[in-house]
Amino acid sequence: MSVFQATASAPVNIACIKYWGKRDTKLILPTNSSLSVTLDQDHLRSTTTSRADPSFKKDTLWLNGKDDPIKEGGRLATCINELKRLRKVLVEDKDASAPKLSTYAVHIASYNNFPTAAGLASSASGFAALVSSLAKLYELPSTPSELSLIARQGSGSACRSLFGGYVAWEMGTKADGSDSYAVEVAPQSHWPEMHAVICVVNDAKKGTSSTSGMQRTVETSALLQHRIKHVVPKRMADISAAIQARDFDAFAQITMADSNQFHAVALDTEPPIFYMNDVSKAIIALIVEYNRVALEKTGHLKAAYTYDAGPNAVIYTLQENAKEIVELIHKYFPQKEAFNDRFQLFGGEGVKGKVVEGFNE
Ligand code: ADP
Ligand code: DP6
Ligand code: CO
Repeated sequence: MSVFQATASAPVNIACIKYWGKRDTKLILPTNSSLSVTLDQDHLRSTTTSRADPSFKKDTLWLNGKDDPIKEGGRLATCINELKRLRKVLVEDKDASAPKLSTYAVHIASYNNFPTAAGLASSASGFAALVSSLAKLYELPSTPSELSLIARQGSGSACRSLFGGYVAWEMGTKADGSDSYAVEVAPQSHWPEMHAVICVVNDAKKGTSSTSGMQRTVETSALLQHRIKHVVPKRMADISAAIQARDFDAFAQITMADSNQFHAVALDTEPPIFYMNDVSKAIIALIVEYNRVALEKTGHLKAAYTYDAGPNAVIYTLQENAKEIVELIHKYFPQKEAFNDRFQLFGGEGVKGKVVEGFNE
């Protein structure tokens, strides 16, 4: 008896130009293009195993050891069904001897090694890993951009986690979404000095999910309309150029401005949404002061903060400053003893990060 099983893993990505708003909620088509850096280290990733078997009764997902129901017509079902369709069209219809995996139910088990639904982009790594594991199981001859079209329908930000390095999600213009996918802006090796320091301020599940929060913003915020028409297009072009030129000053300035504007449109939503808390704001003040001193001394910025839909800070910086920033955070936000064994610099290739935990209120 053959066993049909495959495992894949995907890291989170943290946006510098934020995706916030859908023009089509079913297909998950965004109101603006976005750009992110995929973190390549072991501490923030999803690992997913998929298995197909003729004896399975229905598709199931176990997430972090608990049954996560797959709703008919929901996002998980959309991704799974699309991958089964591609299995049939691209593999089984072409090769009569290929096992008919598209007709079997799948059992999927996924594990996040970091807090789920806490504003650390678990939906991004989660759906990217799910799509990758099924594509591997079904032996699909698909490119990362093609798979990103499917991951996008699980969670918008997931389309960007199919690539490492610097990644853009082109919003596209077509109604069927066929031109709304992720593309590589530059590989990680183009600017390997980039580091991300992740400060876990609170790892609890957020109050307003990204999905419902952004929909409310689309419905009620006038500032969002200004942002998508007059701000994001230029920022996308400028930050892409900054990445190509490895210009950290421009990269940092645009990243911080876009984080600020994303949280401003959240506040401009009716009723308003607050994702940052007082610790988040204190970290912003610290980075602003750190950059002010750096600018005075060297003429350059040293750090860029950015916040997703939660209070946790991600600080982009170049390798030479990473240690100093971690020490600065430790100095101003003393850590609880219990977390100390988790402070370690990540090794290996990629955009390295250090998770500083212990801010839980
Ligand atoms: P986050 O800020 O963590 O991305 P979201 O509200 O955007 O939070 O998404 C969280 C949801 O993403 C979870 O409730 C779950 O439905 C889905 N998700 C998270 N991790 C996984 C995973 N590994 N596999 C499948 N789905 C996942
Ligand atoms: C603030 O991709 O989680 O992290 O598409 O509804 O699943 P859905 O939302 P999601 O939103 C991410 C919002 C963000 C910004 C970003 O990652 O670009
Ligand atoms: Co998410």
